[in-house]
Amino acid sequence: MPRLFTALEIPAGIGASLALLRGGLTGARWVEPENYHLSLRFIGDIDAALAREIADMLGQVKQPGFDLRIDGLASFGGNRPRAVVAAVAAVPELIELQADHERLMQRVGLEPERKYKPHVTLARLRDTSSRQVADYLSTRQPFRSASFPVSRFVLYSSRTSVGGGPYVVEAEYPLAA
Ligand code: 2AM
Repeated sequence: MPRLFTALEIPAGIGASLALLRGGLTGARWVEPENYHLSLRFIGDIDAALAREIADMLGQVKQPGFDLRIDGLASFGGNRPRAVVAAVAAVPELIELQADHERLMQRVGLEPERKYKPHVTLARLRDTSSRQVADYLSTRQPFRSASFPVSRFVLYSSRTSVGGGPYVVEAEYPLAA
């Protein structure tokens, strides 16, 4: 069964600026820059027939393109941090696009997703203390990227039942000009 998710790609130049943030945190497994992405909707491990149905349905999404920027760094997991992420400014077009994906996935019977927090995962953490993460973040903030245009979204697959990269673009969907 393929493990699928929808996402926006991160342009190489923005990825290069994010890659400068790698290193300097004990217990961090840094995401390879070619695997940076902004998840829209995690779909999970599904059978091939449903995967085809979802790939077709995503073609019905009609949303305009827009500009985005990375704005800030953060961690997820509170006192037991599990990821360092780059926060993405939640512009209305991004929220609308994500909401469309959420509606489609619920229509085919997937469970509702928890609240959407747009982000690019930079590192996954194991045995890293919240103090170490706070120190890491404090020496790298403020972080703000140039703004970049988003003209399509993609359907990615990752290794079955394992997750992690490399991710493969299974289908791409243009946003309106
Ligand atoms: P991320 O966007 O924070 O990195 C592929 O597994 C991608 O889907 C990952 O990059 C991951 O998070 C995102 N994702 C969202 N919810 C997930 C879940 N419940 N299990 C695995 N991955 C999930």
